[in-house]
Order: sequence, then structure tokens, then C-alpha cells
Amino acid sequence: MMEASGFKRSILITGGAGFIGSHVVRRFVKQYPHYLVVNFDALTYAGNLENLTDLEHAPNYRFVCGDIANLQEVRSAFEAWRISDVVHLAAESHVDRSIADPTAFVRTNVMGTLNLLLCARDSWNDSTAHRFFHVSTDEVFGSLGQEGYFIESSPYDPRSPYSASKAGADHLVRAFFHTYGLPIVISNCSNNYGPNQFPEKLIPLIINNLLEGRDLPVYGKGLNVRDWLWVMDHAAAIDLLFHRAAPGSSYNIGGNCEMSNIALVRLLCRLVDEKFGKTPGASEHKITFVADRPGHDHRYAIDTSKIFADFGWKPTVPLEEGLRQTIEWYVNHRDWLQNVCSGAYREYYRNHYDSKSG
Ligand SMILES: NC(=O)c1ccc[n+]([C@@H]2O[C@H](COP(=O)([O-])OP(=O)(O)OC[C@H]3O[C@@H](n4cnc5c(N)ncnc54)[C@H](O)[C@@H]3O)[C@@H](O)[C@H]2O)c1
Repeated sequence: MMEASGFKRSILITGGAGFIGSHVVRRFVKQYPHYLVVNFDALTYAGNLENLTDLEHAPNYRFVCGDIANLQEVRSAFEAWRISDVVHLAAESHVDRSIADPTAFVRTNVMGTLNLLLCARDSWNDSTAHRFFHVSTDEVFGSLGQEGYFIESSPYDPRSPYSASKAGADHLVRAFFHTYGLPIVISNCSNNYGPNQFPEKLIPLIINNLLEGRDLPVYGKGLNVRDWLWVMDHAAAIDLLFHRAAPGSSYNIGGNCEMSNIALVRLLCRLVDEKFGKTPGASEHKITFVADRPGHDHRYAIDTSKIFADFGWKPTVPLEEGLRQTIEWYVNHRDWLQNVCSGAYREYYRNHYDSKSG
């Protein structure tokens, strides 16, 4: 308990071993040496401590292996580390898995969020001294046609078990603001990409398959449209909103960069061909159209004018540049990719980290 006392804030970041969480943890540990960052993560298949090897000896970083769906584990962490703030990213995050097993999504995304809210409500007396930051998705707003954008007040209309569970969590978070005065902030973000993303998601899946010479599966005709954001831009936006957004507020975050899945896969093919000096078009013949995902939302697009108007935030990395950097990262981290594909990454906690666990 003493360890938390020398720090200005003691922030519980949930899901910090995952894709976006690892970038948020790194940013907070490096930018704010006077904050203690407690990474609370259950290390599901999506959690990978190899994402954070550079932080293992940072004096203001701790890892706790814990499950947000277990109230006692969350309570113990709040007490042991005198948690003053939460940045909540832990989730089951893959739509296809939610179609196969919705229960796990309700357990983690809804019950887990409720447990965090209960512990924050019970531990925090002065609402002005704390922040509960909930990281959500634009998928809670449903699916758009060819026109229009989601704004913060767009009605919720989730279509997949994943987005329904995230919508349930968002509603609980807002309810705790209105009912108990908990100082919450919610962000709803579009699709992220960049280093450390598990290769079940579209961009790393395609990059991995390109590197391995495998087919490139694309759902339906590939006409579904997504907005893409460089993950470190998302981490910067979370940092900004965590510190400056008003309690009870919510913000959309996005890349202002819409693209159909097929155009994105073709772009990745071109960038990989260029990198390896292949004939233009060499990789595209590997594109294979596969049966569409059930209930596949047609288009997500997000209006980010509120965060720009209030704080001047806008994305800094154009998609093509970000994709080049992402390809470069996966090429230079073939061991990371191989460990993920073989499952070896799951041994990392046992082999290297056990003694640092809180
Ligand atoms: N990836 C995106 O494009 C995107 C876009 C918008 C919002 N989000 C949201 O951002 C957050 C992070 O997404 P991501 O893509 O980094 O996810 P991810 O799947 O890469 O990581 C999730 C992390 O949460 C951990 N976790 C899962 N269940 C847990 C539990 N019960 N207790 C504790 N930890 C648990 C996992 O071990 C993993 O480290 C999620 O809340 C997601 O809904 C993601």
C-alpha cells in the first residue's frame, strides 16, 4: 500500500496488455512519472506482456494479473494501490468472437465495467479529485448508409453482441454519473491500427498473410466502410480527455479517414509489394472473398468536430503513412508475430513477470 503514497495519482489502466491499452500505458508511464500506473489485465488470449517489455523496470509502473469480472479482485486492487483514477480499456473486443460466444462479452464488458464502477463509487468520496475514463467504440451507434456521420448524441443502435455489450457498459457508466455523481468521461472511437494489434483483426491479419504468402480473406464483396485511426493518436486523445474533459461528457474520436475493406486490402498489397520490390499488383491475386459476417454493419463514420472544437485534437498520421509504419513494425517484429501465432507469448507472464505482479 505504501508504494502508491509517493505518487500524485494512482491510475488503474484496465486491459493494458492489449493492443490499444499497451500504447495508453506506455504514454501515461512515460509522460507522467509522478503518476503510478497500475496495469490490471486478465491476460486473455488478447493480452500480451511482450507489448510492454520496455516498461518492466519503470519505477511508476506495476502489473496486476486480475479479472475485472471478479469483484473481489477489482476491490483488492483498488485497496492495495489506493486507486484514484481509472482508464478502462479491458474488453472482449473481437466482433467475430462475440458472434460465436456472446456470454464472455457480457461477462467482461458489462459485468466487468459494473465492478469497476462499484469499486470507484465506494472508494472515492470527493468527485472532483478523481476520473473514471471509459474507452468505447463507435459501433454502439449502429450502421450508417452511404451518407452521414455519428455524433455524440446519435442514438445507440448496436447490432453485434460485441457492440451491444459495449453499449450496455456505456449506459452503466453514464448511469453512475447521473445517479451517484461519479466523475466519468466516455470516448467512442473508430477502428484503430498500428503496432501490437492481435493478428485476428483485419490489418494485421492481412499483413501477416502477405508476409507468409497466404490467401487474403475479405468478407462479402469488401464494400463495408470503416474509419481508421493510428493507435497512438487514439492514446493521445485519451490522455487529453482524461485530463481535460468535463465529468459526464463524451467525445467521438476518429481518423477522418474512411475506406472500404477491399480498398484497404488493395492498399496494403501495394505497400507490401513496394516494400519488397515486387511487380505492382503481385499480391492482389491472393485476395479471396469469403462468406460475409452475419449482421455485418455497412458503414461507420464519425464526426470528430466536438473534440476538435473543445481541445484542438485531430489525427496526426495519414492512413498511408500509418500503414507503412505498421507494415514496417510487423516486418521488424517477426518474433512478436511468431510468438503470438504459436501461443508462446502466453508463457511470458510465468517466465518473466510473476515476481512483479501486485
Ligand atoms: N481496436 C479497436 O479498433 C477499438 C476501437 C474503439 C474502441 N475500442 C475499445 O478499446 C478497448 C481496447 O481494445 P483493443 O483492441 O486494445 O482490445 P484487445 O482485445 O487488444 O485487448 C483487450 C485487453 O483486455 C484484457 N481483458 C480481457 N478481458 C479481461 C478481463 N475480464 N479482465 C481484465 N482484463 C481483460 C485482455 O487480456 C487484453 O489485454 C476495448 O474496450 C475496445 O472495445 C477498440
